[in-house]
Amino acid sequence: MAAPIPASTLRRLEKSARAAARGAYAPYSKFRVGAAVLGGSGRTYSGCNVENASYGLCNCAERTAIFSAAAAGERKVRAVVVYTPTVTPTMPCGACRQVINEFGPTAIVVSICDRAARIETTLDRLLPEAFGPEDLR
Ligand code: THU
Repeated sequence: MAAPIPASTLRRLEKSARAAARGAYAPYSKFRVGAAVLGGSGRTYSGCNVENASYGLCNCAERTAIFSAAAAGERKVRAVVVYTPTVTPTMPCGACRQVINEFGPTAIVVSICDRAARIETTLDRLLPEAFGPEDLR
């Protein structure tokens, strides 16, 4: 079981995810996504989706945020919050689930949107029986 995250910390992450969406580079989908990650150190990292004219190279907000955290030296992800500009919350794509698993196999995953509806779950529920670092030891 992952350690509980204080409500005040989750609120901070949610605010950061919403703000991060403003930086989205989404000229093709026009779907502006923001994410915030709580690292093991307690620091927060945010990211947005960054698209590319070669569509397959588009990077999701969640991965941008996690790669920032990793580049700053974090090796544990405790929580990921994703904001999408929708009326119902949406969940991280399969690729992002796999990337979250690398650093946060039991991370809390929260999806928020433009209404009050939200989903709060854990990565191991979203990606059961995951392939991960342990499998290469
Ligand atoms: N996208 C994200 O950034 N995160 C998600 O959870 C869902 C999808 C991005 C990828 C692409 O830039 C756009 O949203 C449409 O799929």
